[in-house]
Amino acid sequence: MTILKEAVRSIQERINKKPRIGLILGSGLGMLADEIQNPVTISYEEIPHFPLSTVEGHAGELVIGELEGQNVITMRGRFHLYEGHPIEAVTFPIRVMKELGVEIILVTNAAGGVNTSYQAGDLMLIQDHINLMYQNPLIGPNDSTVGERFPDMSAAYDRQLRELAKMVAEKQGVSLQSGVYAAVQGPSYETPAEIRMIRAIGGDAVGMSTVPEVIVARHAGIRVLGISCITNMAAGILPQPLSHAEVMETAERVKEDFIQLLHGIIKDLR
Ligand code: HPA
Repeated sequence: MTILKEAVRSIQERINKKPRIGLILGSGLGMLADEIQNPVTISYEEIPHFPLSTVEGHAGELVIGELEGQNVITMRGRFHLYEGHPIEAVTFPIRVMKELGVEIILVTNAAGGVNTSYQAGDLMLIQDHINLMYQNPLIGPNDSTVGERFPDMSAAYDRQLRELAKMVAEKQGVSLQSGVYAAVQGPSYETPAEIRMIRAIGGDAVGMSTVPEVIVARHAGIRVLGISCITNMAAGILPQPLSHAEVMETAERVKEDFIQLLHGIIKDLR
């Protein structure tokens, strides 16, 4: 049996419903998983071949159950390249979700604001991305039962889901920016020169996650919605250094609005 099948089987043995929506919760949003009904919680350690999360503020468990009447599987804590995980490990949970029956993933993250009209605390719908990680999770032999060798990325972030997110945000009176997410490896934050470059090439926000997962999801035909929390302005914009503490503080400050928005979106996901 492949390592993927072993991981999938160990989860299937513990659940009795097929999850349709996958949630990947970034910094500070883990508490959304506490609101899942009839939860089955499986810590990453219990799943064969699953990587283990190492960052502060990220737990490391799957929570499977119902949210807003939908069958969901939630990753509380995700994997980053900067932790030293190979890109296949970072994206392994997406492959697992696909095998479990997930059709839509909702991915969230913390990001630095590159667009100078943004402010710390804004939420940003990811319209598109730029991969500055210089790695691609699809390198290697292609499994054509999962997807094509050369998958289309011209609408990686589902247009209909983006429209839904905008409608829900408007209804809730939550302001939602829309922009391009540029992904870097980290873990050092960017220099001001790098931020100027990212702005010049069309990035509105910068972060250290999401893109590998989205590439694997699109390859497998999973629809994707992505939302960033702009936790800080990127390097060189404000006359102050960046800190992980600021990132966590802002994520904490906006999490109520963010979680409410996610609830509203999940409820109406079709
Ligand atoms: N840069 C990269 N990743 C981030 C940032 C940032 O400014 N803020 C939160 N994640």
